[in-house]
Amino acid sequence: MKRLQYIVILLFSFSVMAQNDIKLHNLQCEMLTNPLGIDVLQPRLSWQIITDVSEVEQKTYQILVASSAEKLKNNNADLWDSGKVSSNASMNITYSGKKLDSKDEAYWKVKVWTNKGETQWSETAHWSMGILTYADWKSTRWIGYNQLFPGDSVSQFSKLSARYIRKQIDVKKQVKNAKVYIMGMGLYELYINGEKIGNHVLAPVPTDYTKNVKYNVFDVTSQLKKGENVLGTILGNGRFFAMRQEYKPYKIKSFGFPKMALQLDIEYENGTTETIKTDETWKFTPNGPIRSNNEYDGEVYDARNEIHNWNTNNFDDSNWLNLTWVEEPGGFPEAQMTPNMKVMDEVTPISITATKTGSYILDMGQNMVGWLQLKVKGNRGDTITMKFAESLKEDGSLYIANLRDARVTDQYILKGEGEEIWEPKFVYHGFRFVEISGFKYKPSLGNFLGKVVYDDIETIGTFECSNPTMNQIFKNAFWGIRGNYKGMPIDCPQRNERQPWLGDRTTGAYGESFLFDNQTLYAKWLDDIKFSQTLDGGIPDVAPAFWRYYGDGVTWQGAYIKVADMLYNQFADENVIKNHYPYMKKWMDYMEANYLKNDLMTKDKYGDWCVPPESLEIIRSQDPTRLTNGEVLSSAFYYHLLQIMKKFAHIINATEVDIAHYDDLSERLKMAFNKKYLNKNNTYANNTVTANVLPLAFGMVPEELKAKVFDNMVHEVEVTKQGHVSTGVVGIQFLMRTLTENGRGDLAYKLASNKTYPSWGYMVENGATTIWELWNGNTADPEMNSQNHVMLLGDLLVWYYENMAGIKSNPEMPGFKQIIMKPDFNAGLSYVNASYESIHGTIKSHWKKTKNKLIWDITIPANTSALVYLPTTNVSKVKINKKQLDKNSENYKTEEDRLVLELKSGTYSININ
Ligand code: BGC
Repeated sequence: MKRLQYIVILLFSFSVMAQNDIKLHNLQCEMLTNPLGIDVLQPRLSWQIITDVSEVEQKTYQILVASSAEKLKNNNADLWDSGKVSSNASMNITYSGKKLDSKDEAYWKVKVWTNKGETQWSETAHWSMGILTYADWKSTRWIGYNQLFPGDSVSQFSKLSARYIRKQIDVKKQVKNAKVYIMGMGLYELYINGEKIGNHVLAPVPTDYTKNVKYNVFDVTSQLKKGENVLGTILGNGRFFAMRQEYKPYKIKSFGFPKMALQLDIEYENGTTETIKTDETWKFTPNGPIRSNNEYDGEVYDARNEIHNWNTNNFDDSNWLNLTWVEEPGGFPEAQMTPNMKVMDEVTPISITATKTGSYILDMGQNMVGWLQLKVKGNRGDTITMKFAESLKEDGSLYIANLRDARVTDQYILKGEGEEIWEPKFVYHGFRFVEISGFKYKPSLGNFLGKVVYDDIETIGTFECSNPTMNQIFKNAFWGIRGNYKGMPIDCPQRNERQPWLGDRTTGAYGESFLFDNQTLYAKWLDDIKFSQTLDGGIPDVAPAFWRYYGDGVTWQGAYIKVADMLYNQFADENVIKNHYPYMKKWMDYMEANYLKNDLMTKDKYGDWCVPPESLEIIRSQDPTRLTNGEVLSSAFYYHLLQIMKKFAHIINATEVDIAHYDDLSERLKMAFNKKYLNKNNTYANNTVTANVLPLAFGMVPEELKAKVFDNMVHEVEVTKQGHVSTGVVGIQFLMRTLTENGRGDLAYKLASNKTYPSWGYMVENGATTIWELWNGNTADPEMNSQNHVMLLGDLLVWYYENMAGIKSNPEMPGFKQIIMKPDFNAGLSYVNASYESIHGTIKSHWKKTKNKLIWDITIPANTSALVYLPTTNVSKVKINKKQLDKNSENYKTEEDRLVLELKSGTYSININ
């Protein structure tokens, strides 16, 4: 009896412990927290299990979804009750309840049963549906004004003042609920009664507006009041009224004058509803303070033109113009399911220096992307001019030759009313230095503040190691990546380009995913690529195709497939594969039909772009020993893509025909490739490192020759190039991992920690605070020489995390459901301290080597497991949480020179003597 009592008490305390100590957090719908206005009919729901209890595994879950918070509270799941589902999946559970219509609301919660007891119901989460059909826009009209005004210009340096729009509305009753749906092209700011709605900037994310147009949704219940209200909008140009017009129109796409469509849904306390829509009664003026806004050339703001109270009630708009109905942009309205940009960080400048000409040079101490906030006092009409650059010339003036024709100049014209504080709205710059002129007194550092602007996504990775050069490279990468997120991944933020080039992100996106929660951004980008596909299957080099380049390469276009693979691997996003598979296949078929000759892929456009050239002054190498034949690049890469397509085909259960085709073509291609390019001396083609690393990385080398080809490649890197990189954008994507995974982590480490040319460390040594476009970025021709590109990172960041920290998702169990923790402890580092916020929770790996000891602290999130590779086969040397590893324990095995433990969730301190 006593014993039974004891068991009952134990069980009770056990489940109480679980109830309190295991919590459900971070509930997400389509990877977003409480999103408003989504347009996925069966959204995916996810949660994280957060606990200090070890070895927690989810066994069962139950999701309740209700149409109101009240109903959910009472467990009245009128939309969906999943029932108890026995499953360990906590990510991407497809909503399978009642069909949801436009604007429906859904409230949800989840509860799970784990091996350590049952949790309480989670907090309530929420999503709402957007406008799902064209008809549901209920004839909301696009309004605009297709005309230039004095000062505007359609030209190479296009200029257009921002349009200030207002509409007074009468809210007749007490408001219970109000939501606004807005499409403001190119960029908008929305105000209600003078208050800005949302904390974002530069919205919405750019798209090819003839294909799809993104709408944003806001809950504005608290902003509307009974009586007179004013809706105000400012429209900027963005990519819609493009930066360059009537200038290379065959290449540069423009979409016309800014325009908008808006719907405001009001539900009153008494149950009645009302919808306000844009129409030709809305009024506007082009004579506001923003005189010009051009992403390349900058913003001009004349504070003398400020219009007091323009977006509030007490304003007489009788001399404003009426907007007119205008043509729709052409693209279908879609919910924006990735965050807008925001001011994400601030930078205080480190020095200000007077020049001989009376201007000042401000140094932000960091090459950053965003803008400068200005504080100034002066007379009405005084003008402050700010010109932005990434570096200085020897004489201390701005180095702007590498910006090409981008004018990168913001101007502020004072109204003369005490201290004036200003920052632009519709432009951004890539800069470290600013030349400031027009001050009538000596400004101080306090007059300026850098605002860092990029997509509102979280930083999810940290990394620190014993090598300071590698740490600085990491920091440079961090700044470069975030700066180049602009609702799409762009190549560079400073010159007259800023285009979302595919090839720059083929593997880059993967490395970036360890630092930033870039899932929704890249999912959106895949849609951009899909929308830019031609009818016959071609995809462009840049997507959205603001620059209309359809070059039909493989190494650039392959990003479509590689980025989808990244989203699957890192975030367990299967939908991207389901949704894009047909288009990817179409492109693969298109390339095969048009360019496969004798089983080899013959078309390439950019080669191994940006190899270290023969002279430090040039951009493009002409030296045949440095360049890799385009057919080698394309064929090897196409082979690699065939393997990924085969994997995708399995994931989505595509037809056997597809799989057989990938298999058959892979075999033929591999045979033809080895026949033509594998030399008798076990090197490929002209024996560049790129020509060898691709077949090695892609598994094309005959098994028996692998070691020899690898050794030859190592010889090239280690001896011929004396431990330096010699690859361009293509080869660099595979070099670090291939070296390490074939046993030469030490050589990879040499490349990563080098300070001499060419290397990432060389950039650091030469003052870089971001990553350069060219290995020789400090000496090369300015024509194509950005100091903030991310493409040369290749697979460096993947290597930092997977091979140095040992944080890698098991490809068989994507989204870090199982983590492979296999650091190369002997590469050259003595410690690594890294963390990664995986979709399941925080992963940590912190190892430190002393002369005869290794201490390794790891954290494995709940409901995941890890394969932990220890650098010994001697069980007696290993202690886990101070306890000797049990010789008879079943959860380890020996693999080559390592012990492999399978550990469940928890925090472990491993000690190896
Ligand atoms: C861009 C690169 C791009 C390349 C393609 C350059 O102008 O800046 O990032 O991938 O062109 O050729």
